[in-house]
Amino acid sequence: MERDQLRDGHGRTIGDLRLSVTDRCNFRCQYCMPAEGLPWLDRAGVLTFEEIERLVGVFASLGVRDVRLTGGEPLVRKDFPSLAAMLAPLVDDLSVTTNGYLLERDAKALVDAGVNRFNVSIDSLQRDRFFEMTRRDSLPQVLRGLETLAAFPEAHPIKVNAVALRGFTEDEVLPFARFAREHPYEVRFIEFMPLDGDRNWDRDKVLPGDELRAAIHAVFPLEPMPREPSATARVYRFADGQGKIGFINPLSEPFCGDCNRIRITADGKLRTCLFSVGETDLREPLRTGASDDDLERIIREAVWRKELKHHVNEPGFVQPLRTMSAIGG
Ligand code: 5AD
Ligand code: SF4
Repeated sequence: MERDQLRDGHGRTIGDLRLSVTDRCNFRCQYCMPAEGLPWLDRAGVLTFEEIERLVGVFASLGVRDVRLTGGEPLVRKDFPSLAAMLAPLVDDLSVTTNGYLLERDAKALVDAGVNRFNVSIDSLQRDRFFEMTRRDSLPQVLRGLETLAAFPEAHPIKVNAVALRGFTEDEVLPFARFAREHPYEVRFIEFMPLDGDRNWDRDKVLPGDELRAAIHAVFPLEPMPREPSATARVYRFADGQGKIGFINPLSEPFCGDCNRIRITADGKLRTCLFSVGETDLREPLRTGASDDDLERIIREAVWRKELKHHVNEPGFVQPLRTMSAIGG
């Protein structure tokens, strides 16, 4: 039975769930994890296939029909393609955020499972700089994965995400613009957010999207496209019609106002903002016999208290304890 749509106390309708299926990752991106990794959750702590199925069923009954699977790196989870196949019929839109390392192996299984959108993270198109950023010498493997995926028409449009850091990304901008013009990928630059494992974030390392856009526009003129409701990216088309490029500017141009997203961590904590300082446990109720009605009540209450906006730009901002890999992009 269809119930009332999930809403927060600021009048926003929540329709998009980012679900982390593992906190583990085969990369160690500078802006996300320390070189030595993080203490992983033990396997018993991670939501099982059945628990995820039940939760997504409850969220779907509350009108959450866009589900994005994230990690860590979701493809390192052993049952991932079958998990995706189980979830696809429950939702309207099933997407995956991946570092691409295992796409050469899994692209077909995921497309067959019904995943209809993919975000692949690539921060540099130069092998040595990719290595520097991810601490893995894996650019060729990731590009092979991207090509494998691109061979499936159902997987398009494919997004390629690059985190933008001052002192690093300036040299990447034009190569990425050419890449976006020459391939059927929408490249999006994401401003560096204070969610890194090394706690090295500071404001001077943020490279605002507008600066990147101006650098591209000077060489390849851009035209803005209309912003979709609740979109994170500001998308531009190349004026000559050859491709698109986007800018995700959570710091310089926050998009909290119509945010429709919530997140569940691999250990079953509901987070209503990337920068939440508190979270709501769903795993314990799941494991101690909560009914669907109980779960619905817990979820509605937590979502009602969703943060109005993030406070990264304000004095006294506190970086959340969890890093990006432990939250899920
Ligand atoms: N700031 C911005 N984006 C980040 N990501 C990970 N850590 C950060 C950060 N500190 C993005 C990466 C990856 C996705 C999962 O999250 O681009 O694609
Ligand atoms: Fe892994 Fe993604 Fe974090 Fe990089 S950003 S370490 S690929 S989880």
